[in-house]
Amino acid sequence: MISAISKVPRHNAWRSLTPSALATRAASTWANVPQGPPVCSLIFPLYEPSDNDLGCESSNMREPNRQANHPTFSQAILGITEAYKKDSLPEKINLGVGAYRDDKGKPYVLPSVRSAEKKVVDSNLDKEYAGITGVPSFTKAAAVLAYSSGSTAIKEDRVAITQSISGTGALRIGGEFLARHFPGDKKIFIPTPSWANHNAVFKDSGLQVEKYRYYNKDTIGLDFDGMVADIKAAPEGSVILLHACAHNPTGIDPTEAQWKQISDVVKEKKHYPFFDMAYQGFASGDTDRDAFPVRHFVREGHSLCLAQSFAKNMGLYGERVGAFSIVCDSAEEKKRVDSQVKILVRPLYSNPPVHGARIASEILNDPNLNKQWLGEVKGMAERIISMRALLKENLEKLGSKHDWSHITSQIGMFAYTGLTPTQMDQLAQENSVYATKDGRISVAGITSGNVKRLAESIHKVTS
Ligand SMILES: Cc1ncc(COP(=O)(O)O)c(C=O)c1O
Repeated sequence: MISAISKVPRHNAWRSLTPSALATRAASTWANVPQGPPVCSLIFPLYEPSDNDLGCESSNMREPNRQANHPTFSQAILGITEAYKKDSLPEKINLGVGAYRDDKGKPYVLPSVRSAEKKVVDSNLDKEYAGITGVPSFTKAAAVLAYSSGSTAIKEDRVAITQSISGTGALRIGGEFLARHFPGDKKIFIPTPSWANHNAVFKDSGLQVEKYRYYNKDTIGLDFDGMVADIKAAPEGSVILLHACAHNPTGIDPTEAQWKQISDVVKEKKHYPFFDMAYQGFASGDTDRDAFPVRHFVREGHSLCLAQSFAKNMGLYGERVGAFSIVCDSAEEKKRVDSQVKILVRPLYSNPPVHGARIASEILNDPNLNKQWLGEVKGMAERIISMRALLKENLEKLGSKHDWSHITSQIGMFAYTGLTPTQMDQLAQENSVYATKDGRISVAGITSGNVKRLAESIHKVTS
């Protein structure tokens, strides 16, 4: 069957298949993804794909939706930063930043990153273009980090992976790929709430964005029943976006038992899971533990895709290091998927930047640096966990009558405090504590030096 496909002209591959072969092929999400031009000719800059090359492979290419309405997120974050900068109080606190800070409130460059960068610089590499899918030693190791060294999918050469412009770029490649090639409805279901950029990224990719329930404001916890009910109610064969760990903005993750149930429902409804893993290692301090849902879904036989970011777990924010991968049904399917990923990426940015990926590659591939890095990720996660505990402890010491257990049961960089927009306004205006109005605070902005004043401020506005 595989050889039959490879011999027919690519646009008509399906015509040559027998009904039984078609039935088998239909089981695979990417059964009809055509093979693009040969890999060797896609290596920049030897080959300039013509309009015809791109157009003929993408007859179902959609007009991108350029009317996405997404100024609110950036405006909100910019507004906080502006207000924080203007505030002259020396003890002001900024809990709006989405980046890790050390216990002095300063940006943190991981020592393993410093060492890896020195190794890269000292090796005097050239600055030639990478291939369209990036630095191979990086993408190979990124796949192992996500799917594990024992992954059957990797061993069977079924994982198509490309370097991306951090997690956002990975999500965008995924959105674009689904908009072109996903055989079902071009609908993606994202949690309510979700990282604010998800909506814009997927809308601009040409997907229709729908929502499933996730957060229960009464319990300040997971609305698991609502989530499962909505995933069940979604039209069969929909795309379901799942935050692999450290859900942003709520900090609320399903338990492993709940993930197993989610996997069952997704399978029952023949949905297509799209994992966003922006915080691997950053949630629990353990990269394997944080990857549980992704690995569980793969073990369960799901065909899925994954966006990875190395912004948070390596602190490579501005270097824009990420990866997008698709777990395919076979090595043959992977080749076709790979070719279409290249066709998609080439007109977007030709090929990704190399410096950050070389740093990440050193960290992932050098055993000593890798060990050091894992310790540093754990250290960052543990600082966050201890700041959560200190905030709760301080609130309790102040005699707060509220139940603050969600502060410590949530995980990752962000905490959903449950504070109302009015209380968040009061925090900013009367206490010089800045964060988004949805009550989300960046725990990374809490330090042993400001946690007491923060607790006092929260206590004031909630009493
Ligand atoms: C859930 C989630 N996905 C993706 C991203 C993308 O981050 P970046 O593009 O910086 O890797 C973020 C960043 O905050 C995020 O929180």
